[in-house]
Amino acid sequence: MDAVRIADLPRHVGATVELRGWLTGSRSSGKIAFLQLRDGSGFVQAVASRADTGDDAFELARGLSQESAVRLRGEVRDDPRSPSGVEVFVHALERVGSSHEYPITPKEHGVDFLMEHRHLHLRHRTPWAIMRIRDEVERAIHDFFDARGFVRFDAPFFMPTAVEGTTNLFEIEVLEGQKAYLSQSGQLYAEAGAMALGAVYTFGPTFRAEKSKTRRHLLEFWMVEPEVAFLEHDGNVQLQEDFVAYLVARVLERRARELELLGRDPRRLEPAALGGFPRMTYDEALDILAQAGEPLEWGDDFGAPHETLLGERFDRPLVIEHYPVLTKAFYMEPVPGDPTRALCDDMIAPEGYGEIIGGSQRIHDLGLLERRIAEHALPSEAFDWYLDLRRYGSVPHSGFGLGLERTLAWITGVRHLREVIPFPRMLTRMHP
Ligand code: 4AD
Ligand code: MG
Repeated sequence: MDAVRIADLPRHVGATVELRGWLTGSRSSGKIAFLQLRDGSGFVQAVASRADTGDDAFELARGLSQESAVRLRGEVRDDPRSPSGVEVFVHALERVGSSHEYPITPKEHGVDFLMEHRHLHLRHRTPWAIMRIRDEVERAIHDFFDARGFVRFDAPFFMPTAVEGTTNLFEIEVLEGQKAYLSQSGQLYAEAGAMALGAVYTFGPTFRAEKSKTRRHLLEFWMVEPEVAFLEHDGNVQLQEDFVAYLVARVLERRARELELLGRDPRRLEPAALGGFPRMTYDEALDILAQAGEPLEWGDDFGAPHETLLGERFDRPLVIEHYPVLTKAFYMEPVPGDPTRALCDDMIAPEGYGEIIGGSQRIHDLGLLERRIAEHALPSEAFDWYLDLRRYGSVPHSGFGLGLERTLAWITGVRHLREVIPFPRMLTRMHP
C-alpha cells in the first residue's frame, strides 16, 4: 500500500490508508489512545482503540514517546472539528524509530534552548509554518522574475573586493596567502549579467560581519538582487513595489493556514498586496522625524528607531528616496542637477520591521565612477573589470537587493530574524 501524506488525507475519506510520521503527543485511557501525528506535510490525530487494534498494537500506541517514528494503517474519517478536517482510526501500528527523552517537551522553553536544539526545533509547528512560508516566498521570487523574462544569474561568493563598505567584510584565505572576501552582495556581477542578458537576478546567501547584535541582523542572510539594463530610478522603484506586492499576495493566497497557525492577522498584510506604496524623499523623512521629536542632521543615516517611526505611519511598505550621496555606496548615480543626492531608495516595511530593500540607479559614466572609487579609497585594480562595463557600451541601469529574512520576519510577524532561517548565523550563535 502506498503511504498517503497527511496533507492529502481529506481526499481519502472512507478509505484505509498507510501513514508514516512522528508522534508529537498523545493521551490515552485503558481502552482508547489519541495519537497526535505529523509527517512534514501536516498534522493529524489518530485514534486507536483496544478493540480495533488488538492488545499488542494498543499497548505499543499507549507507550509511544514524543517523536517516536511510526507507520500505521487506518481508516480516514471526516472530522470537521479538527484543523486537518479528518481523523484516522488505527487498524495496525508499527514503530519505525524509537525516541528517548526528547528534549523539547510540551512545556515552555526559552529561545536560547530552542535555538540550541534548532535541528529538532524545526519539527515543531511554529518553525514548520515559517519554513513553509519561506519556501513559498522563494518560489514566488522565481515565478515573478521568470514571468518578466529575467534570467537567474549566479554571482560568486568569493570576492576580490568590497561592495557595501569595508566595515563588515569577512576576510578569508582562499589559498595560501591569497586573500578574498565573502560576498556582501552579488550586485557588481549582476551588473555584468544585465549587460549580457538584459535583465537578471541573483539569489543566494550573503555575508556581513555585523558587529551589532540586533534582531534585524544576521551574519549570513539571503538576498535577491535584480539588475536591469536601461532601467532608470522610477522604473526601479516600480519594479520593487510590484515585486513585494506579489510576494505578499502569494503568501496570502497559498499560505493562509500557516499565517493563521502563527497568529498573523492577514488583514495587516492585505494593503501591501495591493501596491500603491507611499513614497517620500530623504529630506521629507527628516522633516517627519523632526516633527516627531527625533531630529537628525542632514547626512545622518537612519537608525532602527527612525525606520520604525517612519514605517509605522503607513499600512504598507514605505519608499524613501534620494539619500545623501555620502551615506550610500560608491556606485550610485547622482540625482540629475543635484550631485549631493543619489538616485536610490530604501523600502521600509511597516510595523517596525525596518529596511527590506536597498536599491539604486548605478553610475554609468566611466569618469565619475573612477572618481568615486578613488574617493572611497577602494583598490582600483580590483574594480578594473567593473569599469570595463562602462568602457564598452555603457547604459543607464538599475537594481536592488531584497533581504529575504527581513521580508519574511515582516510577513510572518515574528520579532527576530533568527526565526525565519533554518540555521541562523549570528555573533552569538554558530551551533548547530
Ligand atoms: O541595502 P543593502 O546593503 O544593499 C545592497 O547590498 C545592494 N548591493 C543591493 C543592490 O542594489 N543590488 O542590502 C540589501 C538588503 C537590505 O535592505 C536588508 O533587507 C538586507 O539586505 N540586509 C540584511 N538582512 C539580514 N541581516 C543583515 N545583516 C543584513 N544586511 C542587509
Ligand atoms: Mg541598505
